[in-house]
Amino acid sequence: MAAVARGRGLPRAWLCRRAGPGCGRHYRAALCAQLKQPLAIEEVASRPVQPHEVRVDVHFCGVNFADILVCRGQYQEKPQLPFTPGMEFSGTVLETGTDVSTVKEGDQVIGVSGFNGMAEECIIDQKTLWQIPEGVPLREAATLPVSYGTAILALEHRACTRPGETVLVTAAAGATGLAVVDVATNVLRAQVIAAAGSDDKCKLAMQKGAQSTVNYGRGGLKEAVRKLVGSGWVNVAIDTVGGDVFLEALRSLAWEGRIVVVGFAGGTIASVPANLLLLKNVSAMGLYWGRYKEQNFPVFSRTLSSALQYCQQGLIQPHIGAVFKLEEIQKLRSREGRCSDLPDINGSREWQSQDPSLVVWLRSPGT
Ligand SMILES: NC(=O)c1ccc[n+]([C@@H]2O[C@H](COP(=O)([O-])OP(=O)(O)OC[C@H]3O[C@@H](n4cnc5c(N)ncnc54)[C@H](OP(=O)(O)O)[C@@H]3O)[C@@H](O)[C@H]2O)c1
Repeated sequence: MAAVARGRGLPRAWLCRRAGPGCGRHYRAALCAQLKQPLAIEEVASRPVQPHEVRVDVHFCGVNFADILVCRGQYQEKPQLPFTPGMEFSGTVLETGTDVSTVKEGDQVIGVSGFNGMAEECIIDQKTLWQIPEGVPLREAATLPVSYGTAILALEHRACTRPGETVLVTAAAGATGLAVVDVATNVLRAQVIAAAGSDDKCKLAMQKGAQSTVNYGRGGLKEAVRKLVGSGWVNVAIDTVGGDVFLEALRSLAWEGRIVVVGFAGGTIASVPANLLLLKNVSAMGLYWGRYKEQNFPVFSRTLSSALQYCQQGLIQPHIGAVFKLEEIQKLRSREGRCSDLPDINGSREWQSQDPSLVVWLRSPGT
């Protein structure tokens, strides 16, 4: 990617006035030039849009666990350096290619980009943009795709959760966990047990709507769940932690229970004892939300449309842990030289745990 110093520090409006759409103008982007190093901000040159593409003026970009992994070279996809992280964003359509029919200039949209979201401008295929309905703020909308898309897919499409069923959510105060608690409680009307590693996290999950909590930092998850639900156990478990937490969640399932493997935040991948599946006719299933984009686009797209619709109806309320400006990303530090009040893009457990659903604020609408 051609990073240019020219234009650095000039007001964005000035840069925009200099030329027509796409050509001759520049925008600021966060760049990962070296893995495990702080991100830099560079002025990069705009390119023309292809017929099927849309140029979006990005206002907010969500920061996810996967962004951290990708900047450390630990994600399953490894983009070529230098690259701009950021998988989800919200913004306003600036320009459309000649074949674009789904959105028009001025529309407010959310987008799911492989990477590239942490920039003032993003060029993206029209297929991976969804219109933001009236009443949904751009800031909240930016956090919907990954966490709520995953939560909806896990609960509705994979586990087929029914109203009144009991749902156990691990890492319930993480970005994904909170979204699962929100959707399970407030959309699907399930009974939610939120499991997390501290009392503060349990409290946050309760505020989102969970009926009861388990602090697994204090002891065994299965035993605590048994005390809450007795021999009825839980119908659905959504796990983002892996390791022993996953195994205890599996052992907490009821007859014909379903467990969805969403992530391994704890760093350990457990093996499934197949006899546990047999004994109670239990199903263990995996979920990789982003993969649905290629494998089953209608299902993928529905998770986004549903998230926007639930948000517009006031059923769900995304939790925003912190909002910081693009300029502040330069202050992000590696583990070795941590900046206490800002997230560590190189993957410290601390900021992951304290600030689910971070958002990079690129600019305010209308400025
Ligand atoms: N499969 C998919 O499509 C998909 C989609 C989204 C996310 N994910 C995965 O789901 C996991 C959680 O993502 P998230 O966005 O919810 O992350 P997050 O907001 O950073 O929350 C992660 C949570 O995991 C728990 N945790 C346990 N051990 C940890 C460790 N060693 N380091 C960090 N956190 C640890 C923490 O809760 P406690 O202290 O309460 O245990 C923490 O709050 C990640 O592995 C992510 O890659 C997968």
